[in-house]
Amino acid sequence: MRVETRVLNANTHGIAEAAACLRAGGLVAFPTETVYGLGADATNGDAVARLYAAKGRPHFNPLIAHVENAEAAHRLAIFNADAEALAARFWPGPLTLVLPMQTDYPVTPLAAAGLDTIAVRVPAHQVARDLLRAAGVPIVAPSANRSGHVSPTAPTHVLDDLDGRIDMLLAAGAVEVGVESTIVACTGNAPMLLRPGGLPTAAIEAALGRPLMQPTHATTDAPIAPGQLAAHYAPANAKLRLAATSVAPGEGLIAFGTPLPCADGVAPIYNLSPSGDLNEAARNLFVCLRDIEHWHRTIAVMPIPEEGLGAAINDRLTRAAAGT
Ligand code: TXA
Ligand code: MG
Repeated sequence: MRVETRVLNANTHGIAEAAACLRAGGLVAFPTETVYGLGADATNGDAVARLYAAKGRPHFNPLIAHVENAEAAHRLAIFNADAEALAARFWPGPLTLVLPMQTDYPVTPLAAAGLDTIAVRVPAHQVARDLLRAAGVPIVAPSANRSGHVSPTAPTHVLDDLDGRIDMLLAAGAVEVGVESTIVACTGNAPMLLRPGGLPTAAIEAALGRPLMQPTHATTDAPIAPGQLAAHYAPANAKLRLAATSVAPGEGLIAFGTPLPCADGVAPIYNLSPSGDLNEAARNLFVCLRDIEHWHRTIAVMPIPEEGLGAAINDRLTRAAAGT
């Protein structure tokens, strides 16, 4: 069913309207510092069902509950000492914690896809914080894209994917970080990295004073972050060749730093960061992955260092390459 998608500026008036829309069971896309999210009232089963439908998202893939502050997060989830330390150090910010769910809080089971854990996050973007405060309920918000597509880092990306499928877009320009939040599970003895993201792993490990566990097939045979599908982000018409050290005739190039020489001189090039800055590359990554969908060719991707946001960039590029 097609709905009219209203686009509002994220000023005081827009935020009040968006909060009212969420409380009435509507679907509202809004900016966070990582990517734009598609929000619904986490306590409203009908709204959350509509959210899955709008994205075309499989119901086995649980959602992140966004809340205003750590106090609100404690009403949803049970924090162990590691979780307390990470929340105190990094919230608000690009960190999502997967924790045992409080049983008495009325989050619809659909939001957590039937799991007994819940993903919670306190975003840092001022518009997101104002919206969460005005809404007064936890807001589940996956990235505001069609399922399997690249996450949106600007309002136009949201409309490209979801115009006519959601009630409102709260527009506030391009985001700052550009890759989704880092997800850490604190559900057992040792905190585990479920998804590298906008908060570098090294910062988390420094705060914990020990390394994060990395999920392996030895520790689990079911996917622990069910949304971490191998072929997520795959461009429809392009094929990625990672860690390229040369560009073949006819290939395009995703560069990082000084571009590799291109034999025919006419290859399309997208440079993630001419100066080799990983934060800039993260900001540009999803714009790049949307652009290259129209290139219809194999694209050589220069190596990206694994440090800082490089781990998250390489994770997304690997998934984008897996589907092509
Ligand atoms: O930066 C972000 O995290 C953005 C912004 C909007 O906050 N949100 C986002 O949501 O990336 P989404 O739905 O695209 O990704 C959430 C990931 C999925 O891979 C999902 O499987 C995982 O979090 N997840 C959610 N709840 C989980 C749980 N209880 N256990 C394990 N993984 C969970
Ligand atoms: Mg997503």
